[in-house]
Amino acid sequence: MAEQKIRVASSQDVAEGKLFATQANEQKLLLTRIQGQARAVVNRCPHMGMKMSRGELSDGVLKCPWHGSRFDFCTGANLDWVNAFAGVPMPKWTHGMISMGKSPAPLTTVPIEETAGEIFVHLDAQ
Ligand code: FES
Repeated sequence: MAEQKIRVASSQDVAEGKLFATQANEQKLLLTRIQGQARAVVNRCPHMGMKMSRGELSDGVLKCPWHGSRFDFCTGANLDWVNAFAGVPMPKWTHGMISMGKSPAPLTTVPIEETAGEIFVHLDAQ
């Protein structure tokens, strides 16, 4: 499958530790900068497909604002699966119900490139 290189932001749009939502080819993306390096993921929580734009980002870990799942922004790895409801922490015995039968899954990371003050992602052509 062919790959497309698409400009999604200027370098100054993407600040260390801040989330920047954008899209390319109708794919919603979330960008940030971690230790100086621009990073991108698909802006869709693998639990229920909700947007992660209002999530908390701390030390390179993104926490979903809906049910508290946490992900390594650089690798997409799931670090903690659902443990909250609408952002409110819930007791462990409720976590199975909140997960609604979904097993832990990673965020989808997107290859990113920064050149001469511009940020590009590489997406498979549709
Ligand atoms: S939608 Fe993200 S943890 Fe449920």
